Order: sequence, then structure tokens, then C-alpha cells
Amino acid sequence: MADQDAQPPVGIAPSALSVLRWDEPPEGPVLVLLDQTRLPAEEAELVCADVPALVEAIRTLAVRGAPLLGIAGAYGVALAAVRGQDVGAAAGLLERARPTAVNLGYGVRRAAGVYRAAVEKGAGPAQAAAEVLAEARALHREDAVASGRMARYGLALLDELLPDGGHQLLTHCNTGALVSGGEGTAFAVALGAHRAGRLRRLWVDETRPLLQGARLTAYEAARSGMPYSLLTDNAAGSLFAAGEVDAVLIGADRIAADGSVANKVGSYPLAVLAKYHHVPFIVVAPTTTVDLDTADGASITVEQRSGREVTEVTLSQVGVAGRETGGVVVAPLGSPAYNPAFDITPPELVTAIVTEEGVISPVTGVGLAELCARSSQI
Ligand code: MRU
Repeated sequence: MADQDAQPPVGIAPSALSVLRWDEPPEGPVLVLLDQTRLPAEEAELVCADVPALVEAIRTLAVRGAPLLGIAGAYGVALAAVRGQDVGAAAGLLERARPTAVNLGYGVRRAAGVYRAAVEKGAGPAQAAAEVLAEARALHREDAVASGRMARYGLALLDELLPDGGHQLLTHCNTGALVSGGEGTAFAVALGAHRAGRLRRLWVDETRPLLQGARLTAYEAARSGMPYSLLTDNAAGSLFAAGEVDAVLIGADRIAADGSVANKVGSYPLAVLAKYHHVPFIVVAPTTTVDLDTADGASITVEQRSGREVTEVTLSQVGVAGRETGGVVVAPLGSPAYNPAFDITPPELVTAIVTEEGVISPVTGVGLAELCARSSQI
């Protein structure tokens, strides 16, 4: 297959990404986000001074991706506490902002639990708020550590499965520094392979309809100097058929107790393709994405988004103009549309799940429960 597009693009300066940070200007504490709806055209900050603003940022995907949603949720609770607002109500709003990524509820509940415990032991509002903020910061740091560990486990797994090196890896959606306290999940493994000189190319699915692959993963790959090529989601099948994919690496929004994986819509068809073509299908996610309280894939709530994301191409969808509504209509006026944000891949199609606590393969409920028990002992 022609390789002429594989060289790293030039012109995007690699510098540390500030994806999310707590700030305390004179007007009061705020959460500052890198507005992901504006990438790659613009690295614009979005300042959230209260919980409704953060909820809106979550709904519009200005801040997104499972681990980062957990971190943002925890800081959101801290924002309510520090500003003297109703923490319970704020936690409820944040937790309901998006339904599928379990990390959002995890981060919110963890921070709200610390607030409740502080109040119960007699702490004043300022002390309770300080404890919640410390917890959000701890979650942020832990996610960075988990990211590094997943990258190491994932790279070792790739070396075991693909001993010849020179990997051609395919990924979907966006799983890098933009979704993490560290360098991400699946993308961090690809980055590790690149740094070790073992990545021949990262195939990046564009990821319709919101183009997280084209706008965000290609942006991160370019910043890292990785060899990558973008493809339309529909082109993946012919790529497998041509023998140009050695492994698929994706993240997850929720992993049920039986090992079913909810991830960006389009992941399941890749798993089916990978099975047919005998290509490893690898899921990389922290244990905070495993939800042992959800029995199986059918029990996972899949977010349904507006059909307009399918029937229109908006400026914010293509990352050039922030959050204007209304775009170019690409279907007959009034066309109904089906727009689930995620799909479910059953465990029998998943070769391995890589977490910060290790790798399970084959994927079983028992193996998952053991990994989670290990992480809760730390
Ligand atoms: O709708 P999004 O952009 O929040 O969806 C994100 C994904 O599906 C990611 O693949 C998933 O959160 C894993 S990120 C490590």
C-alpha cells in the first residue's frame, strides 16, 4: 500500500497541553478547560466559573473522554464547595450531564463523598471545600500515573503479540492527553510504541459525526511527530482486507462486569473486522472505567445525541468556530437520524483489556474483578 502520506506533518509545535486546570483569579476560583470544540484550528480556553457552565461544557464536548470527565466532575464538585453552593445539587447536575462514561459519576461521587465526610466530622465550609479540592487534585494525579502504567503494560503486550515490530496500529475516537491527567489510554500505548521506534504508522479513524479522530487524535499525533494517516471510518474494512492493520487500540467509556466494552460508536464494527481478519483488538482503560455494578453490555446506558449532528455539518463540529448553532444541512430537511454516541463490544471480540493494574486476556468477569480488587488495595 502506498506510504507517501505516512511522514509526520510539520508546523504544529509540540508543547505541553494544558487540558484542564484549577485557577484562582481575584474574582474567585474557576476551572479552565482547553475548549475541544475549537481544536485543531484554535487552542482556546474556556473558563467555567460555576457548575452550570461546566455541565454545558460537558454536554457540548468542550471537555470530554472518560478519564477527563471524571477529573472534571471532581473539580466541579470542588467549584461548588469553594463557592459555597449546594454541593449535593451540583453533584447531581454534574453526574447527569452525560450518561455513558462511568468515570464522570466516579469522580463526582468520590469528591462529594469527601465533602460529606468532612461536614459530618464537623469541618467548616472552607475546610470541607479545601478537602474536596485536594481530592480532585489527587484524582488528577492518579490518572496521570495510571496513564503511564497503561502505556508500559500496553507496549509489552504489543511486543508479545507482534514480535516482528514495525506496528501499524488503528485507533478510533480520541484517547490521548486531551482525555487524561497524563498521556491518555490507547493513544499513550501508541505513543510508547512510537518512542520505542516500533510504530510504523497510526491509522486514525476520523470518527463521525463529531470527528474526534480527525480533529483531536490527528492533532495529538501531529504534535508528537508520529507517523499517522487519517481515514474515513468507512475505509477501515478495506485496510484490514489489505493486511495493513496489525492491531486495533481503543479506549472505553464503561466496561461492564462481564467485560462488555462501551466506547465511541464505530468501535464494535472494528472489533468484528478485527475478529474476521485475526487482528488483536485491544482495549486500554483505567480501572476507574470498569463498572462492576453494571452486569453486562445490555445494561449500559448509551447516550443518544441530537440527529442534527448527523443531518448537519456545523462549524463547531469541524472545530473552527466554537459553539455556534446551525450549519450546512446535508440531508433533506426534517430527515430523522439515528445518532448513538457509543456502541457495545461483547467480551468475546476483545483480545485483551489493558489497565494500570495489568492486562487480562482472555477477557472474563473474574479477571476484571481481580484487577479491580488489586486497584482498591492501593
Ligand atoms: O463522546 P466522547 O468524545 O466523550 O467519547 C470519547 C470516547 O469514546 C473515548 O474513546 C473514551 O472516552 C475513552 S478515552 C480514554
